Amino acid sequence: MLDAAVERAVAALRGGGLVAFPTETVYGLGADASSPAAVRRIFAAKGRPPSHPLIVHLGDAGLVDTWAVDVPRDARHLADACWPGPLTLVLHRAALVPDEVTGGRETVGLRVPAQPLALAMLRRFGGGVAAPSANRFGRVSPTTAADVAADLGPAVDLILDGGPCTVGVESTIVDLTGPTPTVLRPGGIPVDALEAVLGRPVALAAGGESRAPGMLPSHYAPAARVELVAAADVAARVTALLEAGHHVAVLSEAAVALPPTAVALPPVGDAEGYARALYAHLRLADRLGADVVVAVPPAEVGIGAAVCDRLRKAAAPRDAPGDEPEGP
Ligand code: TXA
Ligand code: MG
Repeated sequence: MLDAAVERAVAALRGGGLVAFPTETVYGLGADASSPAAVRRIFAAKGRPPSHPLIVHLGDAGLVDTWAVDVPRDARHLADACWPGPLTLVLHRAALVPDEVTGGRETVGLRVPAQPLALAMLRRFGGGVAAPSANRFGRVSPTTAADVAADLGPAVDLILDGGPCTVGVESTIVDLTGPTPTVLRPGGIPVDALEAVLGRPVALAAGGESRAPGMLPSHYAPAARVELVAAADVAARVTALLEAGHHVAVLSEAAVALPPTAVALPPVGDAEGYARALYAHLRLADRLGADVVVAVPPAEVGIGAAVCDRLRKAAAPRDAPGDEPEGP
């Protein structure tokens, strides 16, 4: 059964189609990375500005030298230690990488995902699969096949269903094209794990927040407004919001005592649980009709740093000047 689904996905990719597929982080919207026409379909389906570069997904680390040149030792070490897994390496692009993939940049993002169906598809396909998260531009990333269907529906030729994503936040992006490895986006691999592999500190793009092109302030936002509140202040803030007539949902690691009219989303437990549940809970809050989500951020360590980054973006003002798509 699964083999048949993988075969259909590979056939769709070879025919220039769009295939949504599970990864350990979030679902991706994939197309043959060597085909400019196929890659252009991704931007059309997502409503994403063409200047935003895409990650090329590979079935094996040995393919890095097909897609990148001047690959530094640090990149080899990180690939050996973290692939397959939630790490994207930004490297100097090889000549064959279409401009449609890189947004015209001289660099390319590469990753070998750890999800079994994704790996089976990529290995059978043999080439690179360009894929952003399989959501409409600016929306919450999808962590189930149903999320993809709800967001993109008929724009996708085939959705491979691998169940819920096990990590739940996107890959960590590390730029290896400069003198110091630099984290452009915190994600599934904690920064200290990268430092342990390299044996020295890595740089963080300003404030540890996402600096990858296309990482706009209001990314990852549900329809509801998101407020970040310390655990000790939740009860008072929720009470005030309810009194002002809001429908409030609360997202936190531990259960919090709340007025009965507030929607308590299931407690996520710890930072890993937070990462796994984050996008599903933001979507659930929308479905339940909440107009405000009060979120208690986890400690900003390990994968908690990626959760805090996404929560800050979800809570960012929606009509800020930075909301406009960036130029090339
Ligand atoms: O976990 C993930 O990374 C998921 C799954 C599907 O693999 N993909 C994902 O893709 O999050 P997307 O397109 O939603 O986010 C990719 C980010 C974008 O912000 C983009 O700017 C950045 O990666 N990126 C891609 N290529 C880059 C490059 N050459 N230089 C700098 N940033 C790059
Ligand atoms: Mg995305």
